[in-house]
Amino acid sequence: MDCRIVTIPGDGIGPEIVREACKVLDRVAQVYEHSFHYKEVLMGGCSIDAYGVPLTEEALETARQSDAVLLGAVGGNVGNSRWYDVAPNLRPEAGLLAIRKGLNLFANIRPAYLYKELAKACPLKKEIIGDGFDMVIMRELTGGLYFGERHTEEVDGVLQATDTLTYNENEIRRIAVKAFDIARKRRKSVISVDKANVLDSSRLWRKVVEAVAEDYPDVKLEHMLVDNCAMQLVMNPGQFDVVLTENMFGDILSDEASMITGSIGMLSSASLNESRFGMYEPSHGSAPDIAGKDLANPIATILSAAMMLRYSFDLDKEADAVEKAVQRVLTEGYRTADIMSEGCTRVGTARMGDLIAERI
Ligand code: IPM
Ligand code: MG
Repeated sequence: MDCRIVTIPGDGIGPEIVREACKVLDRVAQVYEHSFHYKEVLMGGCSIDAYGVPLTEEALETARQSDAVLLGAVGGNVGNSRWYDVAPNLRPEAGLLAIRKGLNLFANIRPAYLYKELAKACPLKKEIIGDGFDMVIMRELTGGLYFGERHTEEVDGVLQATDTLTYNENEIRRIAVKAFDIARKRRKSVISVDKANVLDSSRLWRKVVEAVAEDYPDVKLEHMLVDNCAMQLVMNPGQFDVVLTENMFGDILSDEASMITGSIGMLSSASLNESRFGMYEPSHGSAPDIAGKDLANPIATILSAAMMLRYSFDLDKEADAVEKAVQRVLTEGYRTADIMSEGCTRVGTARMGDLIAERI
């Protein structure tokens, strides 16, 4: 298979983790006889430095012309970076929001899975962890509060800021359909998370999700209020299979879910549109404090590349091979600093990439 991949290394640890993911993809190409063609574009702080904006029209167009995008991370230290001395729509993160919107990537899939090798890093008690957990957060990614009209004004001498949360039924329906489709391939359960006791947008969310559920009689649907969900995630994480939720709730809950897996350095994500096109990125940020030190964990990005093989290229066998290679490396006791524990072998970013590639 011939695939055109746009890489966006971005800022901080982005370049070094994307390099390792490409190393693993190259190994897949070699073993399974595919050709992956890469084109690199700038986004985030590095694009601000080069062009004055976090995402150029040209970069967006290059991404649009590709089969899939592999992204590292964008952004720097908010406290001490010139990238943040500008209007909010010119900061690194604005590039990320713009590419999501520009490519219509409305479905963000964030798996949270507890590797038994990393159970010690999980902050929950043993009796809560039980047999572990394996969930997928399906976050709506191009609507809601993050894309609503917003402004700050002065009213009678008092500063006032407004953000708006809007969803139409079509936006809710298309993400719900993706969640039910994925649930069908898993344990056939969807927990839809909202705040229907307060918000109109949540009441519409619930109504539309219920209508979609009628087409999936084999999948069990439950509703959960977002505050209760935040609590349930640390009380009984094993109950979740597919969690379906809107943009901001998903942003918050996916960080919480990643924390209980022991390390955010392990979590991949995929952002998809209606077709097979997707953008794949680790769930973590750019970690500027450890950038360039060969300390970053490349596994989340490598697992995101595996998701790319599965969702955009339909290469299930190859995706399985990458996931198995990651599992083997962990079983053999290799760890980057963030997941290090006693008796294991500590390795750097590049060595971790080598070890995984060698096992494919
Ligand atoms: C994420 C990040 C982004 C988001 C930020 C950087 C805009 O937190 O991908 O979860 O909120 O979507
Ligand atoms: Mg987030």
